Amino acid sequence: MAIQSLKGMRDILPNESGLFNHIEECARRVFAVYGFREIVTPILEETALFKKSIGESTDIVQKEMYAFHDRGGRDICLRPEGTAAVVRAAMQHGLVEENNITKLFYTGPMFRAERPQAGRLRQFYQIGAEAFGSGDPLLDAEIIALNHHILLEFGIEGAHLKINSLGTGDDKERFRKILREKLSGKKKELCEVCQQRFEVNVLRVLDCKNAVCGKVLKAEMIRIDFLSKESVSHFKKVEGYLSSLDISFAEDPYLVRGLDYYTHTVFEFTSDSLGAQDAVSAGGRYDNLFGAMGSRESVGACGFAMGVDRLMMILRPGPERNPEARGDPRPDVFIAALGERAKNRAFYLQSSLRMKKISVSMDFFDKPLKKQLKTANKAGALTTCIIGENEIESKRILLKIMRTEKQLEIAPDDFAETVVKIVNEERGFCV
Ligand code: HAM
Repeated sequence: MAIQSLKGMRDILPNESGLFNHIEECARRVFAVYGFREIVTPILEETALFKKSIGESTDIVQKEMYAFHDRGGRDICLRPEGTAAVVRAAMQHGLVEENNITKLFYTGPMFRAERPQAGRLRQFYQIGAEAFGSGDPLLDAEIIALNHHILLEFGIEGAHLKINSLGTGDDKERFRKILREKLSGKKKELCEVCQQRFEVNVLRVLDCKNAVCGKVLKAEMIRIDFLSKESVSHFKKVEGYLSSLDISFAEDPYLVRGLDYYTHTVFEFTSDSLGAQDAVSAGGRYDNLFGAMGSRESVGACGFAMGVDRLMMILRPGPERNPEARGDPRPDVFIAALGERAKNRAFYLQSSLRMKKISVSMDFFDKPLKKQLKTANKAGALTTCIIGENEIESKRILLKIMRTEKQLEIAPDDFAETVVKIVNEERGFCV
């Protein structure tokens, strides 16, 4: 059998790439309004970067990294996420300034060797944003509002926002301790995975999807008070800011997220249009990450990332609603040429129109005129130009406007200018 793509890695085909680009362009427009600038980091990083940031005991680091030794014996990996790399770059290049918020966004592929299923890939695409330099709850709210705004820009109105607070590093530690105590007598009732999580990363038991674990937790958790007064106040302020923007949310005490770097606010937008993997985007505050990566200054930071593949699943039925997202641009002009001389002429005209930003295609198969016109129709060409011996002899070129079926005879000298004018008018009728 011919070689296939790797399991969990997909090709984004030409009929999908329009939507893929449309998603990125929409996000870019919103980022600009919020003052975010793009950063592009390498796909390969030192494995230690993600161990230090995401956490040694997380599923990502323990089981899902594409890590290997390169020819120089360096321990490197394909990035599983963007946050750690952006923080690394900000520290390396001194992008964090006092009394200023550094706002960065990124797009690109991430890699996690998870078990593939609908909406869960091993190479997937994220659009993410990170803001550094403030511990103020306003920043948490601004990041959530930005994420919300981008989803609205895509036309996704039914996403649900879940939020929770993990508090400071100390609060989290207290929470771990309390949870361990509460669950210690019930450990055997937990699923196999959670029995391990109980040992290495007890907070992750909270977001187990297994119904049995859910039951144990419901009975034990209710709402454990582990947050300090300051953390509660921080969280209430975030909620207040969101309410002032009319962004609805639900508190979810079980939301802990699969990456260890979070402190205070964590959030997730989910969509009913997705299956089990229903998170469209997620993020939160991570005030201790710079410190964990060796920064002497503590830097308040917050961000999110959206899953582009999942957005594509939600938006797929609606590309008609987004004409830019169609991904199969109609040619402005199709040139039907008959005979070698005409083909030569057509090739020249095609090139001169393309120089004027007019999209043109022509026949490569010496088909009879009828078949060439059929091809033009099928491609949805806005205009068709016919060149045969007659047209060459009479020095007139025939142009047909497909929408109105009107035909014009154009002198070669006026050709490019006339076509540009007509095509611009016809584009206005396209939806
Ligand atoms: P994350 O929750 O791991 O967070 O990923 C963010 C989003 O990426 C998810 O909500 C989902 O849409 C998408 N995603 C994650 N894994 C997969 C996968 N295997 N296949 C398809 N899509 C996937 C982060 O990555 C954090 N860096 C977000 C962040 C930024 N927090 C602060 N700043």
